Amino acid sequence: MSGYFFFLIVVLAFMAATGYANDFCCGNGPVYCLQATKDVFLEVGSRNMNSYKFLIFGKHPGFVKKRILIQFGDIPSECGNIVSAKLYLKYWYSHKASYIKTLVNINRTVQVHQVIITRKGKRGEIKEDWTESQATSTHCKTGIKWSKPYLALDGTDANPNTLDTVIFPPTKPWLQLDITEAAQNWKNGEGNYGVLIWATNENDDARDIRFHSREHSTDKPFLSIFCN
Ligand SMILES: *[C@@H]1O[C@H](CO)[C@@H](O)[C@H](O)[C@H]1NC(C)=O
Repeated sequence: MSGYFFFLIVVLAFMAATGYANDFCCGNGPVYCLQATKDVFLEVGSRNMNSYKFLIFGKHPGFVKKRILIQFGDIPSECGNIVSAKLYLKYWYSHKASYIKTLVNINRTVQVHQVIITRKGKRGEIKEDWTESQATSTHCKTGIKWSKPYLALDGTDANPNTLDTVIFPPTKPWLQLDITEAAQNWKNGEGNYGVLIWATNENDDARDIRFHSREHSTDKPFLSIFCN
């Protein structure tokens, strides 16, 4: 209980110091901060969007929908039990194309799922990781397709269970998602392929909600883990 209270204080102190996520990061326990090791948003099947300084989910008129794939470093071995794991994405801005006179900025209902890459190969089940510089809406890496475009949420590309669901109004400084269960699974030896972030209202046209990607110079995505 007091540990949890301490964690809250740390998070609140961090929120008060918004803009200094990297300073907050990577202290020693009981709060560990892991930087993203891979991140990309998924769009048209032939285009890899890794080089951008932002990550996007949802849909902008005239474009196909987008989803976010992100992976963090492995859970530190010093972490005994994971009490909580919170993923943070820094909101940057909401984009609208200049040729569109008005375009609303809508709340997105955001869900997050553990990526589990399992395929049936000739010699039984095989696992293929996704490659940051090659992943698209159709492929996890060059020449290898997801079970379904944008990942099948059926246990082949991603776990069907939602780790967390939050409504994100595009005014909040940070998107925070609770991925404790996935972090515990990684600690217990499941392959760390990261998580998929998408909006259940992803087909509704609105402004692009853009978050800092790890290619951005500041406020990169991070995972804050509280251990005891
Ligand atoms: C969007 O979310 C905000 C904050 O949660 C809420 O106040 C607002 O009513 C929501 N807007 C719509 C259109 O649902």
